[in-house]
Amino acid sequence: MTTTRETMKRQEMTGDEIVELCRRHTLFEWSAQAAVDPIPVARTKGIYFWTPEGKRFIDFNSQLMCVNIGHGDERVVRAIQEQAAILPYANPFMATEVRARLSVKLAEITPGNIDAFFFTNGGAEANENAIRIARMFSGRHKIGARYRSYHGGTAGALTLTGDPRRWAAEPGIPGVFRIPDFYHGIQKGSDTTEEVLARTEEILELEGPQTVAAIIVEPVVGTNGVLIPPAGYMQGLRALCDKYGILLIADEVMAGFGRTGEWFSVDHWKVEPDLISMAKGLTSAYVQLGAVGMRRQIADHFEKNVFYGGLTYNSHPLACAAALATIAVYEEDNLIENARRLGELMGRLLEDLQSRHPSVGATRNIGLFGIVELVRNRETREPMAPFNGTSPEMQALGKFFRQEGLYTLVRWNTFFTNPPLCITEVELREAFAIIDKGLEITDRAAS
Ligand SMILES: Cc1ncc(COP(=O)(O)O)c(C=O)c1O
Repeated sequence: MTTTRETMKRQEMTGDEIVELCRRHTLFEWSAQAAVDPIPVARTKGIYFWTPEGKRFIDFNSQLMCVNIGHGDERVVRAIQEQAAILPYANPFMATEVRARLSVKLAEITPGNIDAFFFTNGGAEANENAIRIARMFSGRHKIGARYRSYHGGTAGALTLTGDPRRWAAEPGIPGVFRIPDFYHGIQKGSDTTEEVLARTEEILELEGPQTVAAIIVEPVVGTNGVLIPPAGYMQGLRALCDKYGILLIADEVMAGFGRTGEWFSVDHWKVEPDLISMAKGLTSAYVQLGAVGMRRQIADHFEKNVFYGGLTYNSHPLACAAALATIAVYEEDNLIENARRLGELMGRLLEDLQSRHPSVGATRNIGLFGIVELVRNRETREPMAPFNGTSPEMQALGKFFRQEGLYTLVRWNTFFTNPPLCITEVELREAFAIIDKGLEITDRAAS
């Protein structure tokens, strides 16, 4: 038997002990537990993290595409400590200075006339509240979402989600229908803007546009492939929403806060959503926080009408302090500009990989949001692993990255290149040198 005090001690276990106990007593996400092989992590700084035994990793996925400012920034740590010393918690019916300051700052940096915010614990809850707000505001019920999407792990957010993580949560919540994707996988490629918008309008007509409260999209799709919409698509979607009085919800949970080289990815197309959900980069994950932002006229609706929503940790002062300090870091260190500038370099490094490695079928990036799609054959474009599956080659590549101290997400036939936005050119090149070597493994399987 261990005492409570003993279980609270930190940094005294070996990596193996940590993994063993975490595996025995906790569940890891989206996995059969026998298949998980977690990296024990003890400390982090900048773009790096270390195991208890001191093995260093380049964090080339910003953990879960969330530690955008980089690890261990003392300005954020200090802000959290100071807030904890003064006011660690106040219930959400109270008003706090840190909540006031954060909402003003967010109104300044979010697109268009997004002016009021409801704070949550993360992205899924932001989307849950976004669709509830859309329904309450519009008096309509249905929500359109795409297949190639992820919107979170709670009931409503998983119904919105189109990717296989949805399957176990079905039948899910009523009233969700699919609008078309523009991308159809490495072999089929992309539709044109005109094609996908025409098909979207057809589906809206079939659903009855007067029954549709909102359309939710990740303007740049995240885990489902860093899918950058074709020119004119986001503006076209905005126009369709306007035509039928449908609200547009931008899920910026992953693409927001500088990841794409703008505060929010919709800013690339100057599109103003009616509702915007955010999390991850909002605090760079130093403390968990999400938010749904809404246009002034939507917020005004709740002056007279009850806002039916609540969370014990809504507007948590520690999280608000972390967010304010994090936003200050983006500004002080010009991280959004850095993401844009180094994103251009990443684009060139990705193109270079594609020109030299037969297994690289496609690369995409926008800012420091990047992905490589691997194929067995450049002609047939057969993916290196099937949809929702893996292959010995993808597993071997993942193992190589891990051996060489490069941490990133390897998923299906893809892997991601999403470093913290504070990365330098030298560090970026160092990571790409490891990738370059690793691709020799998949090249051997490519013809
Ligand atoms: C686009 C998008 N929306 C929503 C979520 C869910 O956010 P959370 O895990 O904080 O609930 C994620 C998480 O990866 C995401 O990428």
